Amino acid sequence: MGEFQLDRAVPKPTMEKNLHNRDVVGVQDFVLLENFESEEAFVDNLKRRYKENLIYTYIGQVLVAVNPYKNLPIYGPAEVKEYSRSHFFEAPPHIYAIADNAYLSLKDEHREQCILISGESGSGKTESSKKIIEYIAARTEHLRNVHVVKEKLLQSNPVLESFGNAKTNKNENSSRFGKYMDIQFNYEGGPVGGNIINYLLEKSRVVSQVQGERNFHIFYQLLAGGDANTLNRLKLENNPEMYNYTKDCGKNDTLKSKDGTQFKAVLKAMDTIEIGKKDQDEIFDIIASILHIGNIKFVINENGNAEVLNHDANTENIAKLLGCNLNQLRDALTHRTIDARGDVVTSPLSGELAQFARNALAKAIYDRLFTWLVSKLNSSLQPTERNINPVIGILDIYGFEVFKKNSFEQFCINFCNEKLQQLFIHLTLKSEQEEYLREGIVWEPIKFFNNQIICDLIEEKHKGIIAFMDEECLRPGVPTDLSFLAKMNKHLASHDHFIGHMKADLKTQKSMGRDEFCLVHYAGDVTYNVTGFLEKNNDLLFRDLREVMSQSTNSIVAKCFSNTEWQNKKRPDTAVTQFKNSLNDLVKILMGKEPSYVRCIKPNNLQVGGQFDDKVVTHQVKYLGLMENLRVRRAGFAYRRPYELFLQRYKCLSKATWPNYRGSPKDGVNELIKALKYGEDEYRMGNTKLFIRFPKTLFNTEDAFQAKKNDLAAIIQSHWKGLMQRRRFLIMRRSAIVIQKWVRRFLAQRERERRKKAAETIRRFIKGFITRNGPPNEDNKNFIEIAKSHWLKKLATSLPKHVLDKSWPPCPFACKEASEHLHRMHCNHIARKYRLALDPKKKKQLEMKVMAESLFKGKKKSYQKSLGPWFQNERVSSIQLPLIQGFTGSSMPKDETLQYSTEVIKYDRKQYKPRDRVLLVTNKAMYLLDGKKEFKLKHRLPLDVLEHVVTNETDGLLMVKIPPALKKDKGDLILSVPHLIEAVIKILDITKKTSSLSIVDTGSITHSLVNGKQVGLIEVKTGNPASIARAKNGHLLVVAATP
Ligand SMILES: Nc1ncnc2c1ncn2[C@@H]1O[C@H](COP(=O)(O)OP(=O)(O)OP(=O)(O)O)[C@@H](O)[C@H]1O
Ligand SMILES: [Mg+2]
Repeated sequence: MGEFQLDRAVPKPTMEKNLHNRDVVGVQDFVLLENFESEEAFVDNLKRRYKENLIYTYIGQVLVAVNPYKNLPIYGPAEVKEYSRSHFFEAPPHIYAIADNAYLSLKDEHREQCILISGESGSGKTESSKKIIEYIAARTEHLRNVHVVKEKLLQSNPVLESFGNAKTNKNENSSRFGKYMDIQFNYEGGPVGGNIINYLLEKSRVVSQVQGERNFHIFYQLLAGGDANTLNRLKLENNPEMYNYTKDCGKNDTLKSKDGTQFKAVLKAMDTIEIGKKDQDEIFDIIASILHIGNIKFVINENGNAEVLNHDANTENIAKLLGCNLNQLRDALTHRTIDARGDVVTSPLSGELAQFARNALAKAIYDRLFTWLVSKLNSSLQPTERNINPVIGILDIYGFEVFKKNSFEQFCINFCNEKLQQLFIHLTLKSEQEEYLREGIVWEPIKFFNNQIICDLIEEKHKGIIAFMDEECLRPGVPTDLSFLAKMNKHLASHDHFIGHMKADLKTQKSMGRDEFCLVHYAGDVTYNVTGFLEKNNDLLFRDLREVMSQSTNSIVAKCFSNTEWQNKKRPDTAVTQFKNSLNDLVKILMGKEPSYVRCIKPNNLQVGGQFDDKVVTHQVKYLGLMENLRVRRAGFAYRRPYELFLQRYKCLSKATWPNYRGSPKDGVNELIKALKYGEDEYRMGNTKLFIRFPKTLFNTEDAFQAKKNDLAAIIQSHWKGLMQRRRFLIMRRSAIVIQKWVRRFLAQRERERRKKAAETIRRFIKGFITRNGPPNEDNKNFIEIAKSHWLKKLATSLPKHVLDKSWPPCPFACKEASEHLHRMHCNHIARKYRLALDPKKKKQLEMKVMAESLFKGKKKSYQKSLGPWFQNERVSSIQLPLIQGFTGSSMPKDETLQYSTEVIKYDRKQYKPRDRVLLVTNKAMYLLDGKKEFKLKHRLPLDVLEHVVTNETDGLLMVKIPPALKKDKGDLILSVPHLIEAVIKILDITKKTSSLSIVDTGSITHSLVNGKQVGLIEVKTGNPASIARAKNGHLLVVAATP
């Protein structure tokens, strides 16, 4: 059910979103109207919103829509999107919200829906119903497979409107029938079919219209839009003024210009809803026939009976178009057959009755054609799969009608509205009460008017107005409208809601005719004129005409007038009973569904936009029962919401509930209420919902929320910024990792290259090392280079410093040659350095050493010993030194200088007796002095003639060979010289005659004695101790120590 279905499985979100706008454009929900009892405040709220083009306002879940009379840009795809995405109260009130709410309840909760649209003629009911269908079509845009059905649903309207709508003084496109349309949905929520029920077509319009109004659109459309061939076939002229039924159409050029194009649209729509060419032709045959029927003229014969002229073209056209017998038709138009209990009597008709019969035929044909059309639409709209599909029903039905003169039609229409109000009360109050019970809140009885009493007044069996009307229609005798009125006056006089002329107060009596009665409807008093009630209720079509029609070759007409109908003797139900039954069926249908209400209001009677006529609107507010609606809705509490939703929206208003409340939502709301300091009677806590009594309380809460929003915005902003920063950080981190990866890759590659190179170098080094001694090649080239450089560097620091240091660092193979060169060069270098550093004395010494080497090395075994010590000039004791000086000063020639002096042992030549002597060497001669006897000169031998013999052993034997010329010295001199090599070198250095020395390696040496004739023998041996002495054999035995 609509208004009070707040406890549905899917909670309805808040209307609170727009609460803060209320000052600008009024409240968007009347329940929040502070002064809810005031009609003025109500209308003012509507007006304020209307001025801002806000044509929709809620009363709870009832939508009040004010006709804008202009196209507002609020029905585009953007709005469809908005409303399909937001919950009911989240977006501003809109017909789309109602449609979406119904659609979602059906789709998600499988609850069948109906949308009841009511309002005065021209208030926008049909437009609203179209908007709903359009919304559903757009909402299910994504479901491609239902495209054809949607197209049919949309296209059913032009056909229905063409045949069922007409221009009235209130609405240029007024629906002259009630319509209930079911849209069936499949499990996906796609529309798969539909069904239409039509109510009470205003068929009287076919034969006559009020001044300024028109017949149904289709007549004009056919005449304006039908091509020449069609019109020709139908025997029609393109001029409505030629036909009685359409001639009073007035001069409405705008409509006329539309008719032609509308006709094309209707043809197209018929194609869409599968009305084939043959059916279309037959339909237009019927429409044309009706126009011809209207033009039938009767003449009165001499008996006062009606007759059709023989050459009447109209009847001929009709017979041709409908395929019926011309004479039969003419007879049926002028005669009436009555079957009274088996007695079949045919009687001619008076002119008046013939006229009546003719019009009745036209009305009946049109009415049945319309019903056939609806059934045709329905068979086209049937879903292909015959499942039981849930439906959304849309009821577009006339609202309460109050004219100056109200007749049978208004009675039916207003009865219908009473029934719908009853349904509304039943459903809303019941559920309101049930909700209070469910929520455990004490029910406070609401003052409201229950219109059940009026429904009963009208429809109660045997006692109601309908019962009296039917009774009058059926009773034998001559029932009239007035007899019907009298009956009502008699039986219903005591009823509170029936006012007859008699019962009315004086004031009412003045304005009320005697043929009128007044009903006190829930929406107000309506006075009905009984004239025509019975006739309209009887809806009489004479049997003869029905028979002719049933024989028509036009299949539609034949179907509409079946044989059984006119043969059936039982009277068909009266019009009002049929209507009552269909209404009761409708109520049954609606009872099983959840209703939503759209209450349409027109802002003025001029059919123009922008004008808000308070009086006109107030009248509608009253007759739509909107104040009653609001009162019921506001009786208890202005606002109620499930705890979850209330808490969700307002939780930021208490520290205890922000940001999240851990306990139950009810406890959370309790905390909130404490924080908001609600007064005792301002609210009630239900089991699942919070009920707030006054709008003010809610507004205050909402205002507090709006103020708090800034804080929330800051929090959201900070979180958002944080999130953004984090996202940026993550991107940067990812980028950094990528860069890092590449850098690492690069470094790793470089490192690998380095290692590879190193390994190669090492490998080459090892190879180089292995092949270092081979010829230079690629492998060992480097190694050798390195080895060279290393060796050179090392060499530079480890060169031998001393001339005698023969050490030399080992060298690699490759440097061998260089090493040798260098070694040599270095030796030469330090030798040269050494040499350059020598003083003359030393130089002399070395020259002598060199000489010693050249003479003795390898030749005399004591050479090695002589090597180390420097050669001395004096080998005498310190005692001997002055003696020698004395000798040289006294006995030596002046040009001689002493070069060397040494103690020696002289062995004489015969006995080899040893004698101590001192040997002096000057630059010219050798002197031998007696070492003991004061240096007595024993010999002076000139150096340059002497020859010297030494052994190769270690002994110190020196034999000085004296040339024979000097043999006065008695033969060769045999000496034992302590530093033999030194002494010999001194001598030879002076003489420069190295050839004068001979070194003998024989075991014996001969020496000459005196004159060279006697020869002595010196034996040389080695052994220990070393000695030189005469042997037993008389030879001189030299024992040389072994080295
Ligand atoms: N929402 C709307 N937007 C624009 N124009 C509208 C709207 N609703 C109604 N109208 C205008 O008002 C006219 C009358 O509307 P509509 O035919 O729906 O009235 P109705 O209530 O169905 O009347 P009736 O009872 O006579 O059929 C429309 O032809 C259209 O011009
Ligand atoms: Mg309408």
